[in-house]
Amino acid sequence: MSGTLYIIGTGPGDPQLLTLKAVSIVENCPVIIAPHGSKKGNSTALAIVGEAVPLAGKTVVQLHFPMKKIRSGHEPVPEILAAWRHAAEEALHHLNKGINVCFPTLGDPAIYSTGYYLYETVCGIKDDVNVEFVPGVPAMSSCSAALASPICLGDEMVAVIPATFSDDRLREVLERFDTIVLMKVHRVMDRLVELLKRADLMDRSVLVEKAGTAGQRTCTELDKITDPPHYYSTIIVRKNPITVRTLIN
Ligand SMILES: C[S@@+](CC[C@H](N)C(=O)[O-])C[C@H]1O[C@@H](n2cnc3c(N)ncnc32)[C@H](O)[C@@H]1O
Repeated sequence: MSGTLYIIGTGPGDPQLLTLKAVSIVENCPVIIAPHGSKKGNSTALAIVGEAVPLAGKTVVQLHFPMKKIRSGHEPVPEILAAWRHAAEEALHHLNKGINVCFPTLGDPAIYSTGYYLYETVCGIKDDVNVEFVPGVPAMSSCSAALASPICLGDEMVAVIPATFSDDRLREVLERFDTIVLMKVHRVMDRLVELLKRADLMDRSVLVEKAGTAGQRTCTELDKITDPPHYYSTIIVRKNPITVRTLIN
């Protein structure tokens, strides 16, 4: 009988934000396959689960997933396809022996995560694999908690997008939605600040870096940021003030 591939969300960094279910799966899986984005780096998702569960005695494999643009409906570059295939084959190597495999992924697997690419690739190679997804706390929820500010209330509309989108798409989203969650902001801060200024949204925008970790930092004056923020940074643009607080004041 084939093993089960568990694709689990680790939350944004604080091991206390791992779900009980995620902890129990990591405890019971003999094999952990963990993604890392930079060629020489280590897996943050693995570090998070490693703080909650002793990993000694488990087979732990860290695999590089290149951080390159992926457009829906378009085939990714061969380097990415090769990385997905390699990870899928590694997972299947254990699953075919009846061994359960855990793939931890940062935040929630449903949001801009490698988890679904692995899932699709595994199923493309073998169509009867048992796969279970376990949701995690998304980074944006941890950013919202850090700011004590909701992402959406009442009839507000929210958009969650990578800040690496084209200027035209960003402008459209900034105009249309009440709250905009901008992810992957670290390399495009200058461009973003310019767009936010033009949309007159600078005073509605807050950057949260490393939310939910000891290094958490929030910044409201985005044009004063000189060094690029860490990759684990998100900007929340919330157009509306919180109604209840406004009414009481
Ligand atoms: C590939 S996406 C992964 C999103 C993740 N699956 C989730 O549910 O939040 C990576 C982006 O998530 C955001 N992110 C991840 N961890 C974060 C943290 N601790 N604080 C702020 N933003 C974070 C950043 O915008 C980063 O560029």
